[in-house]
Amino acid sequence: MNVLILGSGGREHVLAKKMSQSKAISNLFIAPGNAGTAECGQNIAISATDFAAVAEICLSHQIDLILPGNEDPLVAGIVDFIAAHPQLNHIMVAGPSKAAAQLEGSKDFSKILMAKYQIPTAQFLTVTADNYEAGCAFLDQLSAPYVLKADGLAAGKGVLIIDDLAQAKSDLKDMLHGKFGQASAKVVIEEFLKGIELSAFVLADGEHYIMLPEAKDYKRIGVADTGLNTGGMGAVSPVPFADKAFMDKVEAEVVIPTLKGLQQEGIPYKGFLFIGLMNVDGQPKVIEYNCRMGDPETEVVIHRLNNDLLDLMVATCQGQLNKQTLSVNPQTAVTVFMVSGGYPEQFEKGYEITGLDKVKDSVVYHAGTTLKDNKVVTNGGRVIAVTSMGADISSALQHSMANAAIIQFENKYYRTDIGQDLL
Ligand code: AMP
Ligand code: GLY
Repeated sequence: MNVLILGSGGREHVLAKKMSQSKAISNLFIAPGNAGTAECGQNIAISATDFAAVAEICLSHQIDLILPGNEDPLVAGIVDFIAAHPQLNHIMVAGPSKAAAQLEGSKDFSKILMAKYQIPTAQFLTVTADNYEAGCAFLDQLSAPYVLKADGLAAGKGVLIIDDLAQAKSDLKDMLHGKFGQASAKVVIEEFLKGIELSAFVLADGEHYIMLPEAKDYKRIGVADTGLNTGGMGAVSPVPFADKAFMDKVEAEVVIPTLKGLQQEGIPYKGFLFIGLMNVDGQPKVIEYNCRMGDPETEVVIHRLNNDLLDLMVATCQGQLNKQTLSVNPQTAVTVFMVSGGYPEQFEKGYEITGLDKVKDSVVYHAGTTLKDNKVVTNGGRVIAVTSMGADISSALQHSMANAAIIQFENKYYRTDIGQDLL
């Protein structure tokens, strides 16, 4: 089969590497990809949301299956676009329809679904510029800190957590008046949940589902979870506190009602589903849904899978996941993101990366990298994820630390404490 993966991050390198090892793969293409994916297949320099360009590639390269790595093409309706295209509608797309991708594309949609199907989540109220006053009254009832979420996609920046009530009201006004463009024309105000975060993953085919391993993501730039939020500085899987009793609760109280609820709404869910959870004194509560895998969670979750990825994706598209059995490496995976100094604020790109050939006992997944004059150079904030396996978090982390010391680029930075809070 010929497969096209859409995206260019660390997640897409993991998916491309795993896909390249599938028995039934003929040709693998990644659009636009990075220096790492170029070793797994052929990169094609188009944007994943340029559907006309995607269609052209599908035709010229006889694509059989598309795997969108990130949310943008899914929320924009790539599944519906392919299904409605007379020359492309035979192609399988391993992801949710535009309607189902609203789980991520609209926070209001996801909160309404959760309320209707009694899925545990934070109390909320959705407001627009017309009922700003009601929003302020709702904020008055809550206690600090206050959580404001842009309804639509805002490049991961649409959530504000504010300590001061007057500031929250002022930020709410700014958001309703275009702080995040159209994405914050509606704002979801939420109760703040206190606890430890966890990322849960499901693969669904519209009828059946498989629970994937869970992971914990480290979002802050600084050691001990300090400083600015990032796309993710590292991840761990499995997560010690997510024992069988807790994950059974997640499945019974969150996964099943979410998938059943969507089915009842007439929008069956296909593809990867990422559920961001807060463990509030042993009770899982949903913070958000994403209609794709997480990054950097993929670098530990998919890394631990022994299954043939193409078999899983075909089964997802054909409603046959009940015939697949998941095989997961029981060891612990830790990934550490090496980032450009200055990230998540200003940083430079284009620095040569050396030492990649000296890496031992870890797998390097590329994110913000590209090839320039046959050299691998930095091309983004999050540059490379170093994933290692071990009997426990400490031994896996040790391997990643040793290799992060060997890999060199100007102004490299990484956290040294990934997973340490879980010990
Ligand atoms: P999101 O963009 O929805 O992932 O939100 C970004 C981050 O904000 C989450 O990963 C949480 O750390 C935090 N967050 C979002 N909603 C809440 C909430 N209701 N209570 C506490 N923290 C939250
Ligand atoms: N690691 C968080 C995300 O992928 O959204």
